[in-house]
Amino acid sequence: MTKKLYVKTYGCQMNVYDSERMAEALSGEGYEQVDSPEDADMILLNTCHIREKAAEKVYSELGRFRPLRDANPDLRIGVAGCVAQAEGEEIMRRQPMVDLVVGPQTYHRLPKMMEAVEKGQKALDTDFPEEDKFLKLPRQRATRGPTAFLTVQEGCDKFCAFCVVPYTRGAEVSRPADRLLGEARDLVDRGVREITLLGQNVNAYHGAGEGGDWGLARLIREMAKIDGLDRIRFTTSHPNDMNDDLIAAHGDCEKLMPYLHLPVQAGADKVLKAMNRKHTAEDYVRLIERIRAVRPDLHLSGDFIVGFPGETEADFQDTLSLVETVGYGTAYSFKYSSRPGTPAAERAGQVSAEEASDRLQRLQSLLTQQQRATQDAMVGRRVHVLFEKPGREAGQMVGKSEYLHAVHVDGPAELRGRIAPVEIVESRTNSLRGRLV
Ligand code: 5AD
Ligand code: SF4
Repeated sequence: MTKKLYVKTYGCQMNVYDSERMAEALSGEGYEQVDSPEDADMILLNTCHIREKAAEKVYSELGRFRPLRDANPDLRIGVAGCVAQAEGEEIMRRQPMVDLVVGPQTYHRLPKMMEAVEKGQKALDTDFPEEDKFLKLPRQRATRGPTAFLTVQEGCDKFCAFCVVPYTRGAEVSRPADRLLGEARDLVDRGVREITLLGQNVNAYHGAGEGGDWGLARLIREMAKIDGLDRIRFTTSHPNDMNDDLIAAHGDCEKLMPYLHLPVQAGADKVLKAMNRKHTAEDYVRLIERIRAVRPDLHLSGDFIVGFPGETEADFQDTLSLVETVGYGTAYSFKYSSRPGTPAAERAGQVSAEEASDRLQRLQSLLTQQQRATQDAMVGRRVHVLFEKPGREAGQMVGKSEYLHAVHVDGPAELRGRIAPVEIVESRTNSLRGRLV
C-alpha cells in the first residue's frame, strides 16, 4: 500500500539534496511524495539552524500542523536537518506531537526508524555514525530533470565565530572521487546535463582518488570528461580554499560555469579577524582579481553579515566599500544572529537590533543596485539556456543561463533538458526574458 509523504525543506541546497535523498530512502518503505501536507500520512520538515529565525520557523510550522494531526491521529510528523541535530529531544519536549527526529548524518536509517514510528513509538537518532550514509542510501533519482545536486563534501573545520555548521554538520568529510564520478555518470544516464557539486566548504574537497587525495579542481576536470554532462557548478566556498588549480579551472575548463559563490562576510579586517575568517579584505579583493583575470565574465555571488559583535559604523562602511570595489551579480546579506554554543555568542559589543536593521537595509540597497545593473547589462547579449520547466504563462519555458539567471522564452515543451542559444530582450525583477535564436 502506498503511503503519502510530504517534505518541506528550509535552508541551503544541501538540505534540498538531503530532502531528495530522504524521500528516496522512504520510497522503499512505500512512501510516495505529495505536494501538500493535507494529503500526507507523514510530514517531514528538513530544518535549518543557521540563524535564530530559521530555527524558530520550525516550531511555528509545527504548530500549524496541529489541526491536521487532530483530524488524523495516524498522521506522523518528523523533524530532520540541523535543528534536529542541534536540539534533539528538546523538539519532542516542545512539540510532543513530533514522532521522529533525525539528523543530517543518520537519515539513511529512516526506514528502520519509520518501522518504530508506524508502531506508535518515538524515534530519535542524531548520531555521527562511523558508517558512510551515502553507501546505505538507495540510488539517487534524477527528480529535477536536467539539473541535479551532488554532495561531495560535508561539514566544516573552519569555525567562523558566528557559525553553527561545524557543530551541527560536524567535521569536514570528503567523499571518494570514484564514487562521485560513478554517481555523476549515473545521473547523466538518466538525463541530467548540469551537476552542482555541494559542500558546506566544497572547495576544501580532498577526497580519495587515483594516486592520492584529489582537490576539487581535479574532481571537476575528471567530471568534465563525462559525455553528456554539459555544465558543472559548485557551492559554497571559502576564499582560503580557492587554490591555483581551482582558479585555473575557471579559465580552462569549459564545462565549469562562470558563476562563483564566494562569501566574504564583511569588509573590515578587524571584523574579519574577530569572525576567525583568517584572511583580510585585501586578500579577498586580490583573489577576485585573479579569478576574473582567467574568467573576465565571471558572475560573482557572496554572503554578508552585518552587526557582528564589535562592528562599528566605520567597519560597516568598509563592507560597503568592498562591495563597491568587487561588484556582485547576486548576494545574500543577513543580520548577525547570535547562535548558542558559537564563540561570538558570548562576546561583548553586541550591535543593537535597530542599528543592525539599518545597516542591513543600506547594504541590501547597494547589493540590489548591483544585481539590477548586472541583470540589465545582459539585455542584448546572447546566452545559453538549459531549459528546466514550463514557465508561468502558457507556451513559455524557463531555464538558467551560464550565469545562473532565470531566463523565460516563448518556446515548445520539447526544450526541456536542452541547451539553446537565447538573446536577452528584457530584464525583469528576478528574471530575464529572451528570444530563441
Ligand atoms: N548570523 C547571521 N548570518 C549567518 N550566517 C551563518 N551564520 C550566521 C549567523 N550566526 C550566514 C553567513 C553564511 C550564510 C550561509 O549564512 O553569511 O555564509
Ligand atoms: Fe560556517 Fe565559516 Fe564553515 Fe561557512 S566556512 S560553514 S560560515 S564555519
